[in-house]
Amino acid sequence: MARDTSLFSGRPSELIGRQVAGYRIEREIGRGGMAVVYRARDLRLERTVALKLLAPELARNDTFRRRFTHESRAAAAIDHPHIVPVFEAGETDGVLYIAMRYVEGSDLRHLLDRRGPLVPAVALRIAAQIASALDAAHEHGLVHRDVKPGNILVARGTDSDHPEHSYLTDFGLTKKSLSLTGFTTVGQFVGTLDYVAPEQISGKPVDGRCDVYGFACVVYEALAGHPPFRRDDDMALLWAHQYDDPPPLTASRPDLAPDVDAVFARGLAKSPDARYDTCLAFVAALRAATTGARFGTHAPTEVDLKVVETSAEGPKRPPPWARPVFRGG
Ligand SMILES: Nc1ncnc2c1ncn2[C@@H]1O[C@H](COP(=O)(O)OP(=O)(O)O)[C@@H](O)[C@H]1O
Ligand SMILES: [Mg+2]
Repeated sequence: MARDTSLFSGRPSELIGRQVAGYRIEREIGRGGMAVVYRARDLRLERTVALKLLAPELARNDTFRRRFTHESRAAAAIDHPHIVPVFEAGETDGVLYIAMRYVEGSDLRHLLDRRGPLVPAVALRIAAQIASALDAAHEHGLVHRDVKPGNILVARGTDSDHPEHSYLTDFGLTKKSLSLTGFTTVGQFVGTLDYVAPEQISGKPVDGRCDVYGFACVVYEALAGHPPFRRDDDMALLWAHQYDDPPPLTASRPDLAPDVDAVFARGLAKSPDARYDTCLAFVAALRAATTGARFGTHAPTEVDLKVVETSAEGPKRPPPWARPVFRGG
């Protein structure tokens, strides 16, 4: 049993060079509240991977275990250019692990901490990529639940037209929703509450629209330099998500067109029904508000077309979160 914990809570250097489930650990990349991420070598396929070792107490939580297995399978099944591909998820010596593509770059948390707010064009590019990833997940019946800058990885893009390539990671790995619904022990670290949707706080069932909310918080922060709600303690922050109006973005970014405030008001609406149906619809509205035009000088993109789709009258296709989770086959 001593090995269980040494895998996770040992000094990082103790694991370097060691082999865990067919991976040789090379160096620590980062750690969050519930996991440590290493760069590692897949010894079978001779490739570099990111190996995430989850805190041992999570393996002891049956609810988490079940969801971990279910959601890592579901995430691995989604083949999307802006979702970090999961290669393998499993358990070794009582520690849950997940092996995924190693993304060379920076997460958005570090990027914002280092460089401050993004210029609108960059924010919109990254946002459109992550929005398409989230919408694809929702179409697969998967809700992320923990959209935050730390779960957005930004790598170098392919060319000057695509200067960055962003990835969404960590589906269903949040401990936040578990703790908010009382599954974890009191006092455990639950991560940031800056991006949590009102319905997650009140323990109501969530669907893709809770990610629309979290995503709108992230995009707000990317432009303002701070999340929509800043409070002195967690209780006040949870209250604000549920009952307070977010300050208009233009208070922090007077250079942006006033129309963006209405877009964030809708993205951050307390009631899921009042929000945009999809993340791409939110980004499309934001792009239209910042550029003041429906289409820019380029040919219409997927995001542009969403503007037309969302503003058109008439019968709508059911939004992804309302479509069946399980399909035949
Ligand atoms: N696939 C990956 N490739 C490269 N770096 C990663 C990958 N996944 C996670 N990381 C890095 O490891 C850090 C820690 O991840 P994590 O434990 O999920 O904590 P958090 O999401 O709270 O930041 C991330 O912030 C990111 O910088
Ligand atoms: Mg993460």
